[in-house]
Amino acid sequence: MSLRDEVLGVLMLAGDRYCSGSGLAAQLNVSRTAIWKAIEQLKAEGVDISSVTRRGYKLNAPPDVFNAAYFESLTINCHTRWKAQYFEEIGSTNDYAKELAAKGAPAGTVIIADKQTAGKGRLGKHFHSPEGGLYMTILLRPDLPFSDMMAITACTASAVHEALAEFGIVTKIKWVNDLFLNGRKLCGILSEGSFNAEMLTMDYLVIGIGINLHPDPNLPEELRSIVTDIEAETGQKLRRFELCAAICRHLERFIDGILERTYLPIYTEHSMTIGRMVQVKAAAGECIAKAVGYADDAGLIVEHADGTREVIRTGTAVFVD
Ligand code: BTN
Repeated sequence: MSLRDEVLGVLMLAGDRYCSGSGLAAQLNVSRTAIWKAIEQLKAEGVDISSVTRRGYKLNAPPDVFNAAYFESLTINCHTRWKAQYFEEIGSTNDYAKELAAKGAPAGTVIIADKQTAGKGRLGKHFHSPEGGLYMTILLRPDLPFSDMMAITACTASAVHEALAEFGIVTKIKWVNDLFLNGRKLCGILSEGSFNAEMLTMDYLVIGIGINLHPDPNLPEELRSIVTDIEAETGQKLRRFELCAAICRHLERFIDGILERTYLPIYTEHSMTIGRMVQVKAAAGECIAKAVGYADDAGLIVEHADGTREVIRTGTAVFVD
């Protein structure tokens, strides 16, 4: 990490408090001149820093920029060592996370980007990922059987729901893993992984999350009535890295409680699927039925016209009422 990043990290962690030049120099093991140069560099970049004689330096408005030390401080109470890497632009955060996973990167690695040039959606679709969104992928190595895959996806949707709720944004969850705000899609989730076929366990899992934070002036015509963003709906400009850290914290909590299904009350209470007529398209065929609840592993329970019930665990459900 550069000295500039380290100084910014200490100032962000200090919040409203002043940090003296000599204190910063001692903490970061460099000269006071080096600290002064780093502060000047930050100011030249537009970071709003007060310098007061005999008190030191303070951030007036903490910038919404990535800082590894600050990100780690936001997840300090987690047992997972969340370590983030940030890119202004990337092909796909999921693809990059898979490359890292194959090379042995640890669980807790998080890839964050402002923009994706080859964003991937479910069912092989392209995921429109312009600047103005939060695109992140979390690498996990859960000691869980493959059969818990659907529950992990539901844990992720519940974690994003809870993280947004910390900022006063209450979303609805569409089975399996889309989040909606005021009737339009706000967030999509794509989980991919590598599995041990002999043990039927997960080797690694990458969970990609795309959230629209700000309006996209170039939003394709066909998406205009379907998607939305947080700023358009609430007027809020969310701090991306704080949202990202909150998602990591909630995801850890729900995965810790996966055997007790602690995500299910949130996942069920905020469902926009239960009670709706859905057309289910799965490998086994298609049907139209009423969504009536969730199984323990987040499989969708549907009721057919003759009153029989079935649990759907693959495919998609499209509203038809
Ligand atoms: C969907 O709605 O179909 C799922 C979209 C998942 C998008 C996220 S953005 C971050 C991560 N990287 C990708 O290429 N895709 C996921």
